[in-house]
Amino acid sequence: MTSPNINASKLRLGVNIDHVATIRNARGGDYPDPLRAAKMAADAGADGITAHLREDRRHITDTDILRLCDEIDLPLNLEMAATEEMLAIALRHKPHAACLVPEKREERTTEGGLDVVGAFDKLKPYIARLSDAGTRVSLFIEPDPTALDAAKALGAPVVELHTGAYCDFGPGAQRDAEFERIVTAAAHAEQLGLECHAGHGLTYDTVKPIAAISTIKELNIGHFLVGEAIFVGFDATIREMRRLMDEARQGVRA
Ligand code: PXP
Repeated sequence: MTSPNINASKLRLGVNIDHVATIRNARGGDYPDPLRAAKMAADAGADGITAHLREDRRHITDTDILRLCDEIDLPLNLEMAATEEMLAIALRHKPHAACLVPEKREERTTEGGLDVVGAFDKLKPYIARLSDAGTRVSLFIEPDPTALDAAKALGAPVVELHTGAYCDFGPGAQRDAEFERIVTAAAHAEQLGLECHAGHGLTYDTVKPIAAISTIKELNIGHFLVGEAIFVGFDATIREMRRLMDEARQGVRA
């Protein structure tokens, strides 16, 4: 029997299926289907499905969001820019969660955290309107105390710490320093009463130290899972990621 302590520290895995849609859209048509991937992720141990509806619809489409809302049992985390168009879509579908992310047309992926300090006044009504609709809002931010304080002041219950820099630095001093920033930020989030998530760029090689931070409650992972699935299958890839996360959680770092 697992101890209540370990259960309490269970780390959730949100599987981001954007890049199943990227492959589909490379040829047009319906294949491969992100909904099928979401169902497979659920069977493989995912705790939630994450999908980013970008302004340019480069991967996930409006129809994908509709089908995910209608047909999956897991909670949906809708990643979205703070725009009136996306807000209207979120208010129509009322996903379990919405993660506000910065979005630039020319970027290949979400390249940095939200400017929660500079965009404070702009973000506040989005957080309020989503929260009023019953959607749990998270803010995708850099692991930085000032950003965390602003997130708290904005009234968001959850923050997602950007792990992209930690992953992009190879092993060595820079990665270690970025990791310590994440540890400190996760502790600061807990002190503020914010639920702390993390994600971006995580792989089998980089996930374990992050998963061992006990104050982090959820990881959102996509690109690596879809890429590795080419070699060993989506189910096996998610199961292995889940196993590594659970293993790291046994020796949690406070
Ligand atoms: N979290 C957020 C807020 C993201 O924008 C992304 C990328 O869409 C991820 C997590 C997942 O990143 P990756 O696809 O690199 O695993």
